[in-house]
Amino acid sequence: MSKAHEGLNPTESGNTTRLNGSPVASENISVTVGAQGANVLNDFHLIEKLAHFDRERIPERVVHAKGSGAFGELHITEDVSAYTKAGLFQPGTVTPMLARHSTVAGEQGSPDTWRDVRGFALKFYTQEGIYDIVGNNTPVFFIRDGIKFPDFIHSQKRHPGTGLRSAEMQWDFWTRSPESAHQVTYLMGDRGRPRGFRHMDGFGSHTYQWINEAGEAFWVKYHFKTQQGWDYFTDEEASAMEGKDTDFARRDLREAIERGDFPRWDVKVQIMPVAEAEGYRWNPFDLTKTWSQKDYPLIPVGYYELNQNPLNFFAQIEQAAFSPSNLVPGIGFSPDRMLQARGFSYPDTQRYRLGVNFEQLPVNRPICPVNSYAHDGAGTHFFNAPDQPVYSPNGVRGQGYLDDGATSSSGVTHGPATDLYVYPDAHGTDLTRAAYVQHPEDDDFIQPGILVREVLDDAARERLAGNIVRAMDGISAELAERVFQYWTNVDPWLGGRVRELFS
Ligand code: HEM
Repeated sequence: MSKAHEGLNPTESGNTTRLNGSPVASENISVTVGAQGANVLNDFHLIEKLAHFDRERIPERVVHAKGSGAFGELHITEDVSAYTKAGLFQPGTVTPMLARHSTVAGEQGSPDTWRDVRGFALKFYTQEGIYDIVGNNTPVFFIRDGIKFPDFIHSQKRHPGTGLRSAEMQWDFWTRSPESAHQVTYLMGDRGRPRGFRHMDGFGSHTYQWINEAGEAFWVKYHFKTQQGWDYFTDEEASAMEGKDTDFARRDLREAIERGDFPRWDVKVQIMPVAEAEGYRWNPFDLTKTWSQKDYPLIPVGYYELNQNPLNFFAQIEQAAFSPSNLVPGIGFSPDRMLQARGFSYPDTQRYRLGVNFEQLPVNRPICPVNSYAHDGAGTHFFNAPDQPVYSPNGVRGQGYLDDGATSSSGVTHGPATDLYVYPDAHGTDLTRAAYVQHPEDDDFIQPGILVREVLDDAARERLAGNIVRAMDGISAELAERVFQYWTNVDPWLGGRVRELFS
């Protein structure tokens, strides 16, 4: 089943039903006390109909609220396996995807043609998990540190007192944040008013990391080049369009796909060897800078096509949850502070906007298995079989997604966090999953042993052993052996006493 059709109800004829599936007596006439009297509380359909309607709206996105999207496929025509092992970028691979384009500052009903940066969010449903590239139609951004983002957005959206947008606030922020100059130059130019979503390029904007099969890492920037050609509105044309069609860009994309004129973008990348980052003439992780294409030319990767309109705008576009934190093996982050802040902010806002189980919604659900110990929470739809373990580490034989049933975090070092990024740089800031630093005499059992031997008296030790044994009631003989060993490690006397009392 295609992503666009996941969740689609079969079309039924016949009576409308209540949400419990039972037939509705009337959609048009409510139950009253006599023909002229009041409504009644147990007209359940009336109550349910109003109550559901009352809750139809959810918070709009805090930014990029006005947008539109479509489904399609990514096609890889070139071989970039020397740079990344990511399955979706291997030659010949076709990956289903969703794209959403948006303005930034406007609300849901605002005109598509306002001068603004355009969002360029791509969601790839890969066999290794969902991969999102959440970029813009510009290669840079207004700021270079995520801590400034709420301030930046406050200066661009409506003032809470007046409810009005303010050029005063916008320019005040920009001129006090000189790092904005590159992006404001793009914004005030043609890219600030593209003629719809089909006629603009897209950028991942940030520097990301690609990692190949041999474990070699590269810094990468994404470029998406429209095959429709660039086009833009002048201020006069855009103002006229605002009055004529608020939804110009949404309509343009939708109608193009309806008539079979499927828009395409070429996918290209710039690649920088990790070793060159330190010495490059600009900080390659600074989001207010581009990399010169003379230094790092565009390398073709493939193209994508949008060819399927959403079947339900709310379910598939409004509820779509894009996030830079959605990575897959072979692709990582970088030390870009903006990117790092975003990795937190998107799933955080989505838990608020859509609920904690937003990843279970069809449009956000991966097409590969999801093996997770996360469970419960509002809107739980999927669940694991009852014989599956529900925590880690666990000793459930032959089960457990991640666990070998033996190890825990004590003394375990996994090494570089290659799923985030590797950057063995001169500053010693490479990410790692290393054991907690242990001092020479530390181990997990020294202090509980001292507690048992030197703090407790004989009576307290005896009560401790008894309490332990009663708490072990019902466990398997195999697990009991592990428990005896555990207490023997704490204190040999205690281990022996627990064994004695348990048997
Ligand atoms: C630290 C800086 C940033 C923060 C904290 C931030 C935060 C957010 C939040 C909270 C949303 C709403 C997400 C949702 O409700 O699903 C959003 C949407 C979006 N942001 Fe950012 N953002 C930042 C920078 C950027 C940058 C640099 C870009 C582009 C390069 C960008 C592109 C987008 C796009 C395209 C969307 C709309 C995604 C969609 O279509 O659903 N943002 N951002």
